[in-house]
Amino acid sequence: MEYQPGPGRNNLFVPGPVNVPEQVLRAMNRNNEDYRSPAMPILAKSVLEDVKRIFKTTSATSFIIPTTGTGAWESALTNTLSPRDKILTFRLGQFSLLWIDQMQRLNFDVDVVDVDWGAGVDLSVLREKLLADPYHQIKAVCVVHNETATGVTNDLSGIRNVLDRCRHPALFLVDGVSSIGALDFRMDEWGVDVALTGSQKALSLPTGLGIICAGPKALEASKTAKSLRVFFDWNDYLKFYKMGTYWPYTPSSQLLYGLRASMDMIFEEGLDNVIARHQRCGHATRLAVEAWGLKNCTQKPEWFSDTVTAVLVPSHMDSSQVVKHAWKKYNLSLGLGLNKVAGKVFRIGHLGHLNELQLLGALAGVEMVLKDLGYPIQLGSGVGAASAYLMQSTPLIKSRL
Ligand SMILES: Cc1ncc(COP(=O)(O)O)c(C=O)c1O
Repeated sequence: MEYQPGPGRNNLFVPGPVNVPEQVLRAMNRNNEDYRSPAMPILAKSVLEDVKRIFKTTSATSFIIPTTGTGAWESALTNTLSPRDKILTFRLGQFSLLWIDQMQRLNFDVDVVDVDWGAGVDLSVLREKLLADPYHQIKAVCVVHNETATGVTNDLSGIRNVLDRCRHPALFLVDGVSSIGALDFRMDEWGVDVALTGSQKALSLPTGLGIICAGPKALEASKTAKSLRVFFDWNDYLKFYKMGTYWPYTPSSQLLYGLRASMDMIFEEGLDNVIARHQRCGHATRLAVEAWGLKNCTQKPEWFSDTVTAVLVPSHMDSSQVVKHAWKKYNLSLGLGLNKVAGKVFRIGHLGHLNELQLLGALAGVEMVLKDLGYPIQLGSGVGAASAYLMQSTPLIKSRL
């Protein structure tokens, strides 16, 4: 059964999948085509090159695989590591938890540092772990840049500094699923060896592409890595790159046209302006939460995420009721609390194809929901705080100057 859509648009404020721009929808609205025709290599080359600009790398090799973020994780791990290799990683929310589950099921030896859900990677713990490994048994340090379940952004540049200061050669593998293309992310500058994302987040496409960049050290590791892999084998991709046909199997051509259109929009706005827009929306959301008298799940400002805010509800409330009521009454989709924080937080996603006024609509919706559910809130308090800030911080639209 399909729900009737209701009047107006659904206000999609989950932290991915996100709204798809009209330009991207139109670019994808095309028939299947012969992917062995001369048109595909032109498209392939252009998207494979340009995703590197989004990851801020010139040294990496890119792979665009028909999969999701979970497949991109598997691709990163199996191409660079061998069974029983030791991985050091941090469990700080549902997505780092799921990646760890995958690492364990793939038979790696995983050293998990458990972190409070709401906190980020503690650099001093990382340092201790690396110093306690003089024989370099740890082959990879895996980090989720932005933990979408708790709204925590980790300090990747700090992690790189610790690795360097400890002179530890472990590979640095980063999940950038809810960060790359929205948050400040610098693959080369931060010495990230493998970075990955999924199409349905900051790139504002439908789900279905896993986008991976592998730096020179990761590619070198892939030559000796013994993990079983077939579908995700980078080697197969590299062979097809050489032949100029690019995919070892049928590419998702509509999504690739969508990716082209989405990146064109990002470059037109300017990647750094996109990042600044996310910073504005993140800050505005946090101002609203504060004005409502509610707490952010993220424990310290240094970890605040500019793509998702997890809002703690008072202990007598059930956050899943907030999400349910928002959808039923206001056609507003918010993110549920997951696993350890189920019932305790609801999440406001503010990433991808989104502007300031759309965000204010969602914040107004949250206020009405909270009031409907008996939370003592002054209507307009959060919207007022957020809009006062957005008014003074939002620049004129670049293409309309
Ligand atoms: C940080 C993070 N990593 C990985 C994933 C998994 O991605 P997918 O659902 O596309 O497999 C998600 C999904 O939300 C995520 O937020």
